[in-house]
Amino acid sequence: MIGDGAGDTGIDPDGHIVADETETVGGDDEVFADLLAFVEDELAFATSHYNNSYLDRRVSSRMRRTQCETYGAYFEKLRTEPAEQEALLEALSINVTGFFRNPDVWSGIRSVLRTLSKNGPPVRIWSAACADGREPYSIAMLARDDPEIDGSNVYVLGTDISTPALETAQAGVYEESRTVDLDEQLSFLGEYRQYVDVDGRTYRITDDVKRNVRFRRHDLINDEPKSGFDLVICRNLFIYIDNEYKRPMLETIARSLRTDGYLVIGKAETIPPTLQSSFAVREARLRIYQRER
Ligand SMILES: C[S@@+](CC[C@H](N)C(=O)[O-])C[C@H]1O[C@@H](n2cnc3c(N)ncnc32)[C@H](O)[C@@H]1O
Repeated sequence: MIGDGAGDTGIDPDGHIVADETETVGGDDEVFADLLAFVEDELAFATSHYNNSYLDRRVSSRMRRTQCETYGAYFEKLRTEPAEQEALLEALSINVTGFFRNPDVWSGIRSVLRTLSKNGPPVRIWSAACADGREPYSIAMLARDDPEIDGSNVYVLGTDISTPALETAQAGVYEESRTVDLDEQLSFLGEYRQYVDVDGRTYRITDDVKRNVRFRRHDLINDEPKSGFDLVICRNLFIYIDNEYKRPMLETIARSLRTDGYLVIGKAETIPPTLQSSFAVREARLRIYQRER
């Protein structure tokens, strides 16, 4: 069994302990390591950046789907079947997101936006690891909706490592499904239909909201920091990342913030001890921090 101290359970991006997909199928650690090396070298997915329990859960889930009982059997399938290579890459990409995900955190973000707006325009925000764009659009919609925030002067940059996710983000068109209730997500704002055109199950972000949101590809591990942001929101990525890489990612973020700029991380995430002195805690429960001088 592969483990990193997390046992057989995992933690989902909302911070819940999950057991269904998390039970690993088992097998030989060496074969598992070879399998990961194959995924990294041949399929160009940087497995070394992620923690082992996360990787094991995703691989085990594919093993169950394909009825492979050992890592060896699954590795053979993976090596020889391009369709399975694609399926595993899809399973490994962590793109769960939503509009106004964790609504209590968004009440905290609202307070931060009000404070920043009072300091005067423009307000510059970076939604790092923004997946399909619902997080940066939530920021832009909230800024337009709140009478205490000057929404037209709030500029949001959304970045992610995934090009397909960014293509969806750029289009700003989302489909409701059996499992995704967009109306419920957007209901954080009372009258959200001023910002989203709804046609049956299709939700289109209006041009007015899109005007203040830009998207670019950015890899938080390998790319350069940015600069001068008033607020960086980077949620639900660190939980999947190997400890060794959390620190460089947070350093990139810290350097991208102006002094006194705010940081929001995921509710199940923490700042590594060595970086804690760089941030003052503003709302511990909501994981809202402020960069120290
Ligand atoms: C679970 S989603 C989080 C989306 C959003 N922040 C939220 O909380 O709803 C994690 C995102 O991190 C992205 N990601 C993974 N590795 C990354 C990296 N090294 N740099 C930037 N983004 C990365 C994934 O493509 C995915 O879209």
